[in-house]
Amino acid sequence: MRLGGLLCGGCLCCVVVLTAVQASGQEKAAMTPPMGWNSWNHFADKVTDADVRAAADMMVSTGMKDAGYVYVNLDDTWEGERDAQGVLHTNKKFPYMKGMIDYVHSKGLKFGIYSSPGAKTCGGYAGSLDHEAQDAKMYADWGVDFLKYDLCSYEDVMLKAQAEHPEDAGIKKRMMVAAYKKMGDALKATGRPIVYSLCQYGVDQPWVWGPSVGASMWRTTDDIDDSYGRMIAIGFSQVGLSKFAGPGHWNDPDMLEIGNGKMTDAQYQTHMTLWVMLAAPLLAGNDLSKMTDADKRLLLNKEAIAVDQDALGKQGDRLYVSGDLEVWTKSLSGGRVAVAMFNRSWSTRDVSVDLAEIGFKSGAKIRDVWKEKDLGEKKGMVVDTLPKWSATLLIVSK
Ligand code: GLA
Repeated sequence: MRLGGLLCGGCLCCVVVLTAVQASGQEKAAMTPPMGWNSWNHFADKVTDADVRAAADMMVSTGMKDAGYVYVNLDDTWEGERDAQGVLHTNKKFPYMKGMIDYVHSKGLKFGIYSSPGAKTCGGYAGSLDHEAQDAKMYADWGVDFLKYDLCSYEDVMLKAQAEHPEDAGIKKRMMVAAYKKMGDALKATGRPIVYSLCQYGVDQPWVWGPSVGASMWRTTDDIDDSYGRMIAIGFSQVGLSKFAGPGHWNDPDMLEIGNGKMTDAQYQTHMTLWVMLAAPLLAGNDLSKMTDADKRLLLNKEAIAVDQDALGKQGDRLYVSGDLEVWTKSLSGGRVAVAMFNRSWSTRDVSVDLAEIGFKSGAKIRDVWKEKDLGEKKGMVVDTLPKWSATLLIVSK
């Protein structure tokens, strides 16, 4: 196999096997990968009520909502103290949560919140330990549509149990799955469809047990940051996970960093290309008030988003790798195939894909998504010359 002028050592063809999972209320809410915005990557612990309301306004004014981004997700640091009845109150940054959520809904958007199965969140705020049903009910009463549930200090509870039962090798995993199921059941019991998003950094293969706790998505890795090195380390580590994703349950390689300023446009294009190929939840993490045309070109590209959101719900996977050059494919509805070619090297390189190998022996029509250009009919090898650290995204059809 030739790839970018090099002999490709191995060829991994992706075999996508969708696990048949009965869709519950939560899962039905995520038949395609959830799309929205989350406060953490840009605002972190500084986020306020005013920031969330402004984000909702800008989801509309920037065109994000029209492009399909509907969740406005408030991450950690909204929590205050519990009262004598165990009711969790907000802290002073969020004086009236229900009013703020109503505001988000009034824009035609959905609202997501954050908690932890531990006593404390990762930011040290109150978690849901021993208050799962009470918190789930409060979220439903508030009109919450999405919950990110972040392991954080529940790890301490698991470690303590492991220390007490050193002979029981599986105790930590069993406790973690049970803790996630407890909240999954509590959400289900509210009767409100709430997308349930697990955040436990991909430990103990959540892609295997996630559906059994009612999850619609689960983080597959530790945290992303706004650097090319971290982004590609996460993105390309997703090889082989495609068979665990499908309508209602998605692998989540973490939120987007596009627009946060520390990668080049070509690197952010690689980020978006890889995430749509992975059928990843698309949760933007930028300051929407500072979106540049370059950010909009990537985040609002309808054809790229359609690759992510394709009705077949198949996650893409690696077809070839040779050193710093990779080709990934993703089956799309209508017999089409998305092909992403990546140059991760420090110099301009040719990367190619053999159309016969991806099911188009007698040739195919090629559309270049980022150039917004039809490349016409091609047969055999399709070659693209890619500058360093960049990616191309093609739609191949009969
Ligand atoms: C963890 C999660 C992040 C974010 C922070 C909040 O690190 O992985 O995505 O939610 O906690 O404290």
